[in-house]
Amino acid sequence: MSRNILVGVGGGIAAYKTCEIVRGLTRSGARVRVAPTPAALRFVGAPTWEALSHAPVETDVFARVDEVLHVELGQWADLILIAPATADLLSRSAAGRADDLLTASLLASRAPVLAAPAMHTAMWENPATAANIQTLRDRGWEFLGPVSGALTGADSGMGRMFDPESIVERALATGRPQDLRGRRIVVTAGGTHEDIDPVRFIGNRSSGRQGIAVAEAARDRGAEVTLIAAHVDAPLPAGVHLVQALSAERLQRSVHEACVGADALVMVAAVCDYRPTRPGAHKLKKHDLGETTSLELTVTPDILAGLTASAERPPVVVGFAAETASGAALERLGTGKRRAKGCDLLVANDVTDGVFGTDENHALLLAADAPPLELHGHKREVADGLLDAVTALLERQSTSTQKEPLS
Ligand SMILES: Cc1cc2nc3c(=O)[nH]c(=O)nc-3n(C[C@H](O)[C@H](O)[C@H](O)COP(=O)(O)O)c2cc1C
Repeated sequence: MSRNILVGVGGGIAAYKTCEIVRGLTRSGARVRVAPTPAALRFVGAPTWEALSHAPVETDVFARVDEVLHVELGQWADLILIAPATADLLSRSAAGRADDLLTASLLASRAPVLAAPAMHTAMWENPATAANIQTLRDRGWEFLGPVSGALTGADSGMGRMFDPESIVERALATGRPQDLRGRRIVVTAGGTHEDIDPVRFIGNRSSGRQGIAVAEAARDRGAEVTLIAAHVDAPLPAGVHLVQALSAERLQRSVHEACVGADALVMVAAVCDYRPTRPGAHKLKKHDLGETTSLELTVTPDILAGLTASAERPPVVVGFAAETASGAALERLGTGKRRAKGCDLLVANDVTDGVFGTDENHALLLAADAPPLELHGHKREVADGLLDAVTALLERQSTSTQKEPLS
């Protein structure tokens, strides 16, 4: 489920941090539009917001009048995030003013509002601001921060904007069904590297983005997430327990450790099938190797099959398979792999067109007792589609356990 998030930016110095927030939201698959106040544009210009959100940006309620933009924006948004929420913006919102595009859109919207105030300590502690915050809270606004720290100028104290990464995390979770609350989910991501010598390795093209999207989606649905990351070329998420496991051997150990007491394992990481049998302790020299050389490889452990056959097997196990096949052939290969690995669900990817390193994916979700389901779109959407199936399986298992007669 992709989300429409309207980011309102107030005229505070923290506006530059909101650039990172917009990037984080779009990277996670949200559709973002930005409505800066006129004062905010004195800190960060419209071209920056347009480039980061991939959407046109206006600040004036009289812009593009034929589209009645404030109503259109207000109805389009399923969440309004205000960062930074300045003292002035809070005051205008509490008074119900509508004198720029952002405040008019706020009034024209029924979407939940999440606001991250940022201002000098004296402004924050002023009774006028406190009263405005209370009024807005009573109307259902949710506030993140502020926190204590260095402020603009020489002062420090309460008034610093909440950490941008955590704002992204909370915005993505707001309004989402918390259907994984109380569940522990282990996710692996990225590709392992197997050392040839201290400078060279065997690796694969996995970027880790799909695994990271699964971890973020599970976190946003309320799960306690452990993300075991091999080599990834995407930012790691906040709000999850991170474990680094760069080789197949390390990944195997980490998966077994993390799966104790877990409800589900989603094994997205691409594990090298082979590793050099005798990795060099020192850099191998070309002049010692000659014109041609060969490398002896040893098969790495089958982590998924080993885990499903072990005592640590969580109730739901999901495997991923990258194949260069499509249609019926992909389904056949994926189904064979699902059975061979002993997992409940398998996501079969056709990687022929280059899925690695992009934000989009298309895959077949294969289960034992359901027809194949096509998952496609942003990797976050694929992650949510997969987690719908994981949630359904977990619920079914809880129900059948409850129904078991007491002996
Ligand atoms: C350098 C500078 C930094 C400012 N930082 C803040 C701030 O962090 N928080 C705040 O509430 N106002 C801050 N202000 C004041 C606001 O820009 C001013 O109140 C403005 O009217 C806010 O308009 P807006 O809320 O419509 O964006 C700052 C002003 C300047 C010149």
